[in-house]
Amino acid sequence: MRPVRTWAAFAALVMLSFVISPAASAAPVRYEAEQATIINGVVESNHAGFTGTGFVNSANAIGAAIEFSVPMTAAASRTLVFRHANGTTSNRPATLTINGTAHSSPLFPPTGAWTSWSTMSATATLAAGTNTIRISATTSNGLSNIDSLTVDDGQGGGGDPAPVEDPIPNDPVTSGLGLVLTEFATFPQSNPVPAPTDSRLVRRARINHLGEVPGIPGRKFVPDLNGKLYLVPASGGTPTTYLDVRATVGGNFFSGRGLGSGFGFVTFHPQYVTNGKFYTVHSESPNQQADWTQSSAVVHSVVTEWTASNPMATTFTGTRRQLLRLGFGTYIHAIQQIDFNPNTTDGLLYIAVGDGGRGASSTIPQQRNVPFGKLLRINPAGTNSANGRYGIPPNNPFVGVPGTLGEIYSIGYRDPHRFSWDRGGTNRMFLGHIGEHTIEGVYDVRAGDNMGWSDREGAWIYNKSDPCNVYSLPSNDSTFGYTYPVAAYDHDPPPGWNCSSDLGRAIAGGFVYRGNAIPALRGKYIFGDLVQGWVFYTNESSMVRGGPLPQVYQFKIFNSSGTQTSMPSLAGDSRVDLRFGLDAAGELYILAKANGRIWKVTSTNGSAP
Ligand code: GCU
Ligand code: CA
Repeated sequence: MRPVRTWAAFAALVMLSFVISPAASAAPVRYEAEQATIINGVVESNHAGFTGTGFVNSANAIGAAIEFSVPMTAAASRTLVFRHANGTTSNRPATLTINGTAHSSPLFPPTGAWTSWSTMSATATLAAGTNTIRISATTSNGLSNIDSLTVDDGQGGGGDPAPVEDPIPNDPVTSGLGLVLTEFATFPQSNPVPAPTDSRLVRRARINHLGEVPGIPGRKFVPDLNGKLYLVPASGGTPTTYLDVRATVGGNFFSGRGLGSGFGFVTFHPQYVTNGKFYTVHSESPNQQADWTQSSAVVHSVVTEWTASNPMATTFTGTRRQLLRLGFGTYIHAIQQIDFNPNTTDGLLYIAVGDGGRGASSTIPQQRNVPFGKLLRINPAGTNSANGRYGIPPNNPFVGVPGTLGEIYSIGYRDPHRFSWDRGGTNRMFLGHIGEHTIEGVYDVRAGDNMGWSDREGAWIYNKSDPCNVYSLPSNDSTFGYTYPVAAYDHDPPPGWNCSSDLGRAIAGGFVYRGNAIPALRGKYIFGDLVQGWVFYTNESSMVRGGPLPQVYQFKIFNSSGTQTSMPSLAGDSRVDLRFGLDAAGELYILAKANGRIWKVTSTNGSAP
């Protein structure tokens, strides 16, 4: 739901809707070129008369191109009007391609000056769903300067795209139920390398997970993004260092740019006690060949297998080997969680790979021949991968499909941040997915699923030319085969928000509580917002694939003496950087990077509505 508007604004809105509501969406829709995907060109603003914030000056080269994404709820004919300026005396011809098919060859003739803007039109039938409309230069002079593409239905409307103002009007509501938190451990100060320029990286300790080593009752482990893997005594207290990943990796270890960079995650093999194997993911400065890389990689994510010579020892000695190395074009959305399904002992490792920040303006998350924006599943004990360092499970959903990596378990992700398997119920896998500007979602993940990013954000159309808004699904949406969240909340920007700042909403995926200690929590999927420190739940039974979004409830928070408080006050910071952990008994822990502290959920207070 959007925040309450002022009374005057509200009254004005009511009056407007009385007076002009039938015509409200009847306007041609303009897509600014500077928001579109630019292939070999730059955004400039030195020639007056453009709309938006600038225009695209393509390189003077054959193939320089601009690609617009135009969503349609149903197939229909549209006039495509390109606004351009050509200050030379020659045509700047282009090929107009719609959804990969060449449509026509508009000439983009001289307009008299670079500041004289004119239009060039074509008529085409657009398809339901997201249309890709591309103009590509056919001569070495490049494109005319392009200001925008307007999509017009000839009847005063552009067709659909009236953005959905409030996609999830049903906001989280405060529950009658509160969590009682008891302090469990506090971690030493740690610091990123190189020294951060983003204050959000300056934390007490960038702890981001708590788990328990399979087969060693009570041995809890916690990774710190800044480099150390800690053990915590069974009943809490002072952490000890098991392994210093940063020191072991050496000078290429990198944790100083991007919120997720560093020693991001660790998971222990189901047979750790006998084979001594555990797995980490960490970031490095690019310094060697990656298995796959985005262009101009700035950071590598490396998955490592470690073998402890004595699995029972409380400090690591042993060997390590690299399984997988991926290069990312920006510092965000690299490899997030890696984990084993606790409901089986198959030893298959799931690897959640983000889109490297590139999905918002490209089709990378839908490209099946690259690992970016995908959930992978590999067999660390096998060797039949391209690099020979791991195996591809024969029952993975895309094995043998041409043009598709056999490693892929599910596609279409932006930032697949945290996932877990329900240890009860039907053992479903739930994944918390951080959205672009609008939707924070939890997916029920099954083999072969396509979550739709970046054609969809949650169960809405994401328009690459208008990333600040989402649009209603097309009438033929089911033909695309996308899977949508089983729980979600939206960002609710304040009125007038211009889409430039970080609103501070990001989901922290959690766990279905199946422990014994707190019956009131049984069957609830407990998750949160990692920035705000909100702790949420929905009932697992109401998280239904294809069903309506369930009500999300926000827990009240109490300290161990029963006084109501909040995560920001417990963490001593309005930015909590909250994460969840679970021990072998299924009991729940809450972590805050802000003050490097972990609390155990020890009881509840009140009752659920
Ligand atoms: C000039 C002009 C640019 C234009 C370019 C061109 O440099 O300032 O806006 O794109 O010529 O010839 O393509
Ligand atoms: Ca140019």
